[in-house]
Amino acid sequence: MDIFECIKGRRSIRSFSNDPISDDDINKILEAGIWAPSAGNMQAWEFVIVRDKKLRQKLAKAAYNQDFIAEAPVCIVVFANMRRSASRYGSRGSDFYCLLDAAAATQNMLLAIHALGYGSVWIGAFNDDAVMRILNAPEYCRPIAILPVGKPLEKPSPPRRLPISKVLHFEQF
Ligand SMILES: Cc1cc2nc3c(=O)[nH]c(=O)nc-3n(C[C@H](O)[C@H](O)[C@H](O)COP(=O)(O)O)c2cc1C
Repeated sequence: MDIFECIKGRRSIRSFSNDPISDDDINKILEAGIWAPSAGNMQAWEFVIVRDKKLRQKLAKAAYNQDFIAEAPVCIVVFANMRRSASRYGSRGSDFYCLLDAAAATQNMLLAIHALGYGSVWIGAFNDDAVMRILNAPEYCRPIAILPVGKPLEKPSPPRRLPISKVLHFEQF
């Protein structure tokens, strides 16, 4: 798939079949994640693959009852590793760079998921503490995104974008 087709054709998917996803495809998705850019190449990301149905249901609850999350056969939960980034960049690392590293990996994975014929959506509305408890995350990791992944059962039309002219500035604001 052409890169521009992939970028423009990706949609947030919120309805999934429970067809399984092979480890091979999960690995391809993770591979796309780890090839994202990162500040100082510190790669301040961590990924948790969740296949267990009970855990997926708990994640859906922690995401303020976005129940469709549990429909997908797999969730990839992306964390920012604040400690790894802070080890080089101090508070700039823990407050800022690690979030961007994890976000870049997340977007790469969303594109790979789409290119492989699956659907997903970036879930960012959740209770951080609840997600950390459910996944037994260490205190130096912060959850950034829950990505439910599965075969899409919907084909949403593209939501409007602000025109470039509205967000573009030449030379200065
Ligand atoms: C940081 C972030 C948080 C988001 N959180 C949620 C969420 O909690 N639930 C949800 O259904 N969609 C969530 N989305 C998906 C957006 O609603 C979606 O990307 C946007 O409406 C544009 O649609 P598109 O992804 O199909 O282009 C989130 C997206 C981002 C980038």
